[in-house]
Amino acid sequence: MKKKPVLKIRNLTKLYGDIVGIKNLDLDVYPGEIMGFLGPNGAGKTTTIRACLGLLQKTEGDVKIFGLDSHEDSIEIRKRTGYLPGDFGLYDDLKVKTILKYLLSQSGVSDESKMRELSERLELDLDRKYGNLSKGNRQKVGIVQAFMADQDFIILDEPTGGLDPLMQQKFYQFLKEEKEKGKTIFMSSHILAEVEEVCDRVAIIRKGKLQVVEDIGSLKEKMGKKLVVEFDDGVDPSMFDLDGVQDVQIDGRIATMIVTSNLDEVIKRISKNDIVNMSLETFSLDQLFLTYYREGGSG
Ligand SMILES: Nc1ncnc2c1ncn2[C@@H]1O[C@H](COP(=O)(O)OP(=O)(O)OP(=O)(O)O)[C@@H](O)[C@H]1O
Ligand SMILES: [Mg+2]
Repeated sequence: MKKKPVLKIRNLTKLYGDIVGIKNLDLDVYPGEIMGFLGPNGAGKTTTIRACLGLLQKTEGDVKIFGLDSHEDSIEIRKRTGYLPGDFGLYDDLKVKTILKYLLSQSGVSDESKMRELSERLELDLDRKYGNLSKGNRQKVGIVQAFMADQDFIILDEPTGGLDPLMQQKFYQFLKEEKEKGKTIFMSSHILAEVEEVCDRVAIIRKGKLQVVEDIGSLKEKMGKKLVVEFDDGVDPSMFDLDGVQDVQIDGRIATMIVTSNLDEVIKRISKNDIVNMSLETFSLDQLFLTYYREGGSG
């Protein structure tokens, strides 16, 4: 039995005058999953997120979070949903600590432990004035405020913008731990590797329309693996004549191919020969993602 979605988007459309923000969007995010939301600049990610939280007036459609209506119940939804906006400004003259404590109290939470723990992990100095922080450190303030009330659902609009690679890794680790605790996360991103690393599923949007919603694992399976074998002797190409083996190229003693299935049989066949070297690599998803990004990409 499938669980009820935490976030359920149906036929969501937002027009800015003549400009299409998003059109007829359907998407479900289930409890305990991390859903990545990927798309080029201007694709409609921020529009979708803001419409989900009732922060902008949708043109058409229906959004439910925890079964509550995004518009009518937006206050109740915000109590139960952490949110990192794509752009945010906070009070420059106040200390980070003061701002975070204030925002925490606004969500009706008095326990500061998560705020302190996450700040420590991200090496955010709570005693500095917000206005004096670098871009990356400001982003950390946004991340901490999104998670500090320990809500069950967290929506993040490009969470790692401005973070250095080390901090990104720390943040990914944190996200995985939150998922382990049963949290549900919906995050937009431009970084393919990040989606590949932390997300269970990905939704790709382009020009306001959803292109694909897929399990990261199934996407990788579809991509197949690249197998390179160097034989001691000449190669008989007919040995790769198998379902699920494509793009076989023979260059002297080296055979290169894409294997989408039948890997076991391929290995059995090649092992009947003397092998000097061999490598098997899973494709990165970049190539596939780019086909969805590009004009005329499938979907
Ligand atoms: N306030 C607005 N007025 C008019 N058009 C807008 C407004 N906000 C967004 N748009 C348009 O809606 C479309 C979707 O924008 P949106 O900000 O949702 O994209 P995005 O996927 O978040 O992009 P980015 O990756 O750059 O953050 C774009 O064409 C954008 O120009
Ligand atoms: Mg955006």
